[in-house]
Amino acid sequence: MKEMIDACRRFFELPEEEKKEFHTKNLLDPIKCGTSFNVAIDKVRLWRDYLKVIAHPKFNSLYKPAGYSEVSLEFSKRTRAVATEILNGISESLGLEADYITKVMNWHRGCQILAANYYPACPQPDLAIGIPPHTDHGLVTLLIQNDMCGLEVKHNDQWVLVNAAPGAFIVNYKSIWHRATVNNTATRISIAVPHGPALDTPAVPIPELLEKEGEKAKYIGMTYEKFMELQASPAAYMMPCLDHLRVKDN
Ligand code: OGA
Ligand code: NI
Repeated sequence: MKEMIDACRRFFELPEEEKKEFHTKNLLDPIKCGTSFNVAIDKVRLWRDYLKVIAHPKFNSLYKPAGYSEVSLEFSKRTRAVATEILNGISESLGLEADYITKVMNWHRGCQILAANYYPACPQPDLAIGIPPHTDHGLVTLLIQNDMCGLEVKHNDQWVLVNAAPGAFIVNYKSIWHRATVNNTATRISIAVPHGPALDTPAVPIPELLEKEGEKAKYIGMTYEKFMELQASPAAYMMPCLDHLRVKDN
């Protein structure tokens, strides 16, 4: 985990000129980096650089900085193994076979993204935000950080700081509303690893569970690719993306 954070730090610290080749725009480009900013939103500035590399089903990597490729391969494999165990546990906790979710989600072709965030110390942290409130796409996100906190989740209408133990994985498996704040003391680096179904696989409420509970589905199904597009669209900005999928009561 430390080596992965180090490798990402070395990437972000490359001269701007050397990162330009990865400044692409499409959602599913295998490698992309940039600085997010949106001067239109409420007097608040986004204060973050990001690097997103798709590591599964096809492993992509960077040839610089030296060492990134090797460590990200190892990190992505081990992180995926942890995510697999968590999904197996969730399946079992729902009274399903351990491999239920991984089977129906075509996990062997599942999408894994190494999404690194770089938040430099900010002179006026109250006027900036690292990442505005959002929900993650995917089945389970594992997040690590360089022992600097900043992730906040909405709980009982309050923003609550996630005070993770050093070296811990923060696991996000519910569609929770969260954001990242910035600080004025030191650079914070986090690596969020969303693990999703295969892109062409629709995620739907589990039919066996609906039947067991005698309930109708509360959400429509959608492929993971469409869901990711929806999440990135202006219509979904500052909106929990599951809200778009909720079946309207009639
Ligand atoms: C994300 C995210 C929070 C953080 O990348 O989706 O929520 O703590 N990051 O950097
Ligand atoms: Ni997130």
